Amino acid sequence: MHAQILYGSRYGASRRYAEAFSQMTGIPVSDCASIPDLTGCDLVLHFGGLYAGGVAGLQATLRALPETARLVIATVGLADVRDPENVRNIRSALARQVPRQILDRAAVFHLRGAIDYGKLKWKHRAMMTLLYQKAKRIPRDRQTPEVRAMLETFGSRVDFVDTGSLTPLLEVLPPQDR
Ligand SMILES: Cc1cc2nc3c(=O)[nH]c(=O)nc-3n(C[C@H](O)[C@H](O)[C@H](O)COP(=O)(O)O)c2cc1C
Repeated sequence: MHAQILYGSRYGASRRYAEAFSQMTGIPVSDCASIPDLTGCDLVLHFGGLYAGGVAGLQATLRALPETARLVIATVGLADVRDPENVRNIRSALARQVPRQILDRAAVFHLRGAIDYGKLKWKHRAMMTLLYQKAKRIPRDRQTPEVRAMLETFGSRVDFVDTGSLTPLLEVLPPQDR
């Protein structure tokens, strides 16, 4: 099997997951800002941070994806992915980013990331501040779990990265490669 791990990461959480999965499996890993030649690749695993529902770097990976390769997408976000509503939201956003014929054959996983407001670039800090101000006005009984998680973590530093949560991804590999 010829496989490649790619990641789109602005603050490092997706990179940490991608590198940990590379260590677990021996599959080479690259930043999707400089994708190696994927000719002959049968499996591409993309780890990407969620930014307003979009998966960082995914468009670059889709452009480079060989027609016959299978895609695995691992989203990395703050929202609690044990909550089915959060997963539904991420999946409907993915359906707008990935062509149907690719998504139907893809395996999709959801991992939790990290945020340190002290280190955000001004553009991201401004986006989060706008979202926070809007979310604060939503009555509590109408806040989605995603909104609640954002309100609870706003302004602080949280790190939910757990490389143990990568174990289910091993299932996408042929048994001899796990
Ligand atoms: C501007 C901005 C928008 C974000 N949007 C989402 C989102 O829609 N859903 C989510 O679960 N997390 C969201 N997050 C949290 C990031 O997905 C989280 O910090 C993740 O770990 C980033 O991955 P990276 O460190 O690999 O870039 C957002 C963070 C920022 C700064």
